[in-house]
Amino acid sequence: MPDGLHVALVMDGNGRWAERRGLPRVTGHRAGAAAARRVVEAAPHCGIGVLSLYAFSADNWRRPPGEVSALFRLLGTFLRREVLRAEMEGVRVNVVGRRDRLPAALRHAIDDAERRTRGGGRLLLRLAVDYSARDAIRRAAACCAGDEAPTREAFAAALAAVDHAEPAPPVDLLVRAGGEQRLSDFLLWESAYAELLFLDTPWPDFGATDLAQAVEAYRRRERRFGGAGRPAAVALRPALTVTRRTG
Ligand code: FPP
Repeated sequence: MPDGLHVALVMDGNGRWAERRGLPRVTGHRAGAAAARRVVEAAPHCGIGVLSLYAFSADNWRRPPGEVSALFRLLGTFLRREVLRAEMEGVRVNVVGRRDRLPAALRHAIDDAERRTRGGGRLLLRLAVDYSARDAIRRAAACCAGDEAPTREAFAAALAAVDHAEPAPPVDLLVRAGGEQRLSDFLLWESAYAELLFLDTPWPDFGATDLAQAVEAYRRRERRFGGAGRPAAVALRPALTVTRRTG
């Protein structure tokens, strides 16, 4: 298990980034994949040992089929390219989520990436694909049925197992790009004590500096895990008006 923080990223705002430029949404996702590459490269330099990227939620199946298949193609390309760098740079790839609904070509790319990068010890790169935290919790609970009071550790292990997740520490910092302030069913159990950071920057514009600044902001927070201490650090920005949109 690599040393360092576990940072989870919700890569939101690709569609709006593209639409503002009069471009198809898929172009936004392509720019988003380039941003993902930048943060993978930067992560070890920011003290990050585990990076979890929310690439495709179980609710994203509601998108038009053309957008869904474009996202899967991008993910396959990303994995095939990433594996070459990952092998050299000590990055271990792990895809978290359901696999039974994914296209065969993507499943093969996942298996290949995980097998070839198994030895990586510098960064654990987790891509959440066809992922739903609530669904994973429900499936883990079903696995633990009969065990009246599983320990937190036992439950966490069951949760990891249902989604092919390798052992990873809880999330320290969860960052959402793109201006919305919600969790969208991402790593709900694992983020129980995560620090949350919501940024206006659309994901395609996200880069190494944004990641470094997010980690700096995290380091200024005081984590008490329910214990007593000084009042929490000041909020980084005022709350926005809330409108609801799934995803
Ligand atoms: C949310 O933006 C983003 C997604 C649903 C997919 C994220 C995918 C990528 C960044 C590209 C593929 C990923 C990798 C790692 C290769 P949105 O479409 O909801 O944007 P919007 O809120 O502006 O519509």
